[in-house]
Amino acid sequence: MIKADVGGWVGHSTVHPKQLELAKQKLQEAKEGGLIIDYFVFNAGDDLELLMTHTRGESDPEIHKLAWDTFVEVTEKVSKPLKLYGAGQDLLVEAFSGNVRGMGPGVAEMEIEERPSEPVVVFAADKTAPSAWNFPLFKIFADPFNTAGLVIDPKMHDGFRFEVMDTLENKVVTLDCPEEMYDLLALIGSYERYVIRRVWRKADNLLAAVASVTRLSLIAGRYVGKDDPVLIVRAQHGLPAIGEILEAFSFPHLVEGWMRGSHVGPLMPVSLRDAKCTRFDGPPRVVALGFQVHDGVLEGPNDLFADPAFNYTRRVAQIVADYIRRMGPFEPHRLPMTEMEYTTLPRVLERLKDRFAAVTA
Ligand code: F6R
Ligand code: MG
Ligand code: MG
Repeated sequence: MIKADVGGWVGHSTVHPKQLELAKQKLQEAKEGGLIIDYFVFNAGDDLELLMTHTRGESDPEIHKLAWDTFVEVTEKVSKPLKLYGAGQDLLVEAFSGNVRGMGPGVAEMEIEERPSEPVVVFAADKTAPSAWNFPLFKIFADPFNTAGLVIDPKMHDGFRFEVMDTLENKVVTLDCPEEMYDLLALIGSYERYVIRRVWRKADNLLAAVASVTRLSLIAGRYVGKDDPVLIVRAQHGLPAIGEILEAFSFPHLVEGWMRGSHVGPLMPVSLRDAKCTRFDGPPRVVALGFQVHDGVLEGPNDLFADPAFNYTRRVAQIVADYIRRMGPFEPHRLPMTEMEYTTLPRVLERLKDRFAAVTA
């Protein structure tokens, strides 16, 4: 899965149908040429999402080039001529150098041996950051109140292993659950710094989940929009069931992002049709697409949040959005100062600098 925001229609709300069309055409050509087995092109808000299957392994230069070239072509042939908003926004460098990591696009790659049946859920979110997955990944793979299988299924009973990335220091640490659950929580509750990157089943090291961890602002050294993350989770037969995976999203937890990447708001699960950010450029949204993978073919998508079972969650998200919006520019709706470093706020504060006088009385 490789994704980028290469221009919005309109503003930062969603993508233009012609962007999707051209991206599909590029991946169809790659499929016919034999580079990839299958693909699915979609959008989450203003992010163009390229889901691809192939047999070339992770970080393959040809696959990354295909994604990069697709984003560039969509930018040049659609975003720029139509003057879509923020054309080519996430393409932070001029020339491709073998791997899109560190160049702007978000990546979640998973090298797996296909099981006799391989149900997979692909999540894509807009107006938030990779840390948005911390809460649901913990629920799915470590919380028995969410995932009954942790208690009931002997294959899951040993627990799961989490790889956590320190995005500031660019380091990783691996922690086992349930033994090190409190240590894991001590880290991943800090959304501004720690993000879960991968999860394995402890008993046999089976790779169960992979998330994108790109922090655009740390690459660019300035605010360039949020890193609207993606996540791939394998399901069933000794892994959490589809319903246990989705259950983690039944609570619209608060994430960072939303308007100007500077606010806290609820993550609302939506169908593909509703993957469009509107109110206050949000609220942050997530789509969940299910696929039965067979010999690399993506049988799907099954639009999993297109279900009245999530109406109540959406309703709560709307109430929470309404509540927190009343805080306007006040924390904790607006992010704390440390998190505003990469926004345009410091430039505003700079102007006040010389007006501060010493306290004399
Ligand atoms: C958030 C996002 C939008 C923009 C906002 C202002 O990730 O992309 O909320 O930050 O629409 O955009 P500009 O400054 O480009 O007018
Ligand atoms: Mg955008
Ligand atoms: Mg976006």
